[in-house]
Amino acid sequence: MRFRNKHLRPVKRCRPSLLIWSIIGIVLLFHLYTLNQMQSNQIQPPIYYSDQNSITKELETVEEEALHVTTARSRRNPRAVRRKGSQKPPTIIDEFLDKSTEVHELFFPDMTRAINPLAEGNDSTGYFYPGQIWLDTDGKPIQAHGGGILYDEGTRMYYWYGENKDGPTYLAHQNAAARVDVIGVSCYSSKDLWSWRNEGIVLRGEEKDETHDLHKSNVLERPKVIYNDITKTYVMWMHIDNANYSKASVGVATSQNPTGPFQYLYSMQPHGCESRDMTIFKDDNGKAYLIYSSEDNTELHVSPFTDDYLNTSNEFRRIFVRRHREAPALFKFQGIYYMITSGCTGWAPNSALAHAAESMMGPWETLGNPCMGGNVIFRHTTYFSQSTFVLPLPGLPGLFIFMADRWNPANLRESRYVWLPLAIGGVSDETLEYSFGFPLWPRVSIYWHKRWRLPDGWRDL
Ligand code: DGJ
Repeated sequence: MRFRNKHLRPVKRCRPSLLIWSIIGIVLLFHLYTLNQMQSNQIQPPIYYSDQNSITKELETVEEEALHVTTARSRRNPRAVRRKGSQKPPTIIDEFLDKSTEVHELFFPDMTRAINPLAEGNDSTGYFYPGQIWLDTDGKPIQAHGGGILYDEGTRMYYWYGENKDGPTYLAHQNAAARVDVIGVSCYSSKDLWSWRNEGIVLRGEEKDETHDLHKSNVLERPKVIYNDITKTYVMWMHIDNANYSKASVGVATSQNPTGPFQYLYSMQPHGCESRDMTIFKDDNGKAYLIYSSEDNTELHVSPFTDDYLNTSNEFRRIFVRRHREAPALFKFQGIYYMITSGCTGWAPNSALAHAAESMMGPWETLGNPCMGGNVIFRHTTYFSQSTFVLPLPGLPGLFIFMADRWNPANLRESRYVWLPLAIGGVSDETLEYSFGFPLWPRVSIYWHKRWRLPDGWRDL
């Protein structure tokens, strides 16, 4: 039997509108709290320059490009397919890598279409042509692969350092990656980022001493240089390896001049860990970092340098664990750190990813594929190239140059440079972390252009 207590009031149902307004109130309060936290951490909410800056608007237009190639897949005779069964036809990437194909020829056009700074006054002056041969001011193809750029306050010049691969390509043994003997690190100088003067080889490979890290039979890749304001020294870091990539180390060299010569100091495995593809990054406050692929390329490590930049400190963080990323390129905008990485597929191109963090030591989040325009294959192959560096452009906040290598493993000295505008702005498409519906990070976009140039007077804007 159930008794009813007359003194108890019936329980009132909460009205749905009240519930909804309370939730909205809580969300807004939380958002205000987050903004306040960002401000107290001196991280400003992103300003979407790309939407506002009309000077760079042209560079941020999405340019589509059709691919006019006959691939082996499209050439297949349906009757032969029926006869032979479904043998896997080569992919467009296989054909891109195979020098006997039409696809390969399309992506490695010859000297007739080279970017030539000597041919001044013509319509091409100042234009970047991603993927075409780029000549220096002596009329020779630039040899600065896997490179990076230093802006030198003293000389007000840009210096481009990279691998000189101007030798024959061969395989050290069956199944080995295509290689060129170590020749050294080239340096080119420029005021406008378009015409480059060859400053020579600033760190030479070693011809005789087989025990030397720089012996020609070894591997020297991805050299990068930063300036140490305390010791007034130019410090170069590079990937040092043996022909089968099992040494997995980093090397360091120094010079008193941006144009060298650099003295090679030593190689090491930071914190006793493998280090293959790497880069370095100098922050606004002078603190600098080494970022490298480790643990069989399954993850990246970030480690601050000691104050003289000659060693890593004791601290390091593992990031992108089990994500298999390499070719890191770092940059910073409005207090946020950004990174572009590639997948690990040897010399073959793959999809890039953009990442962001509030601190170099993480946590790092992945924003998605930054490539815009071109066509679907371009976007999935980073325009058939691999990241190496991202260069800030003073006077154009929020705009950067994305530098990548279009590797040609059939003839590595013929590898090309893909430079494209990179802009920060708009909403990112794959942001993992949302602060109650408000994406924490802006979008990083690399815009495809067949040809493009920096706005007039960009250095003084
Ligand atoms: C991919 C790396 O990013 C390049 O620097 C080079 O090491 C190749 N692998 C070698 O296969």
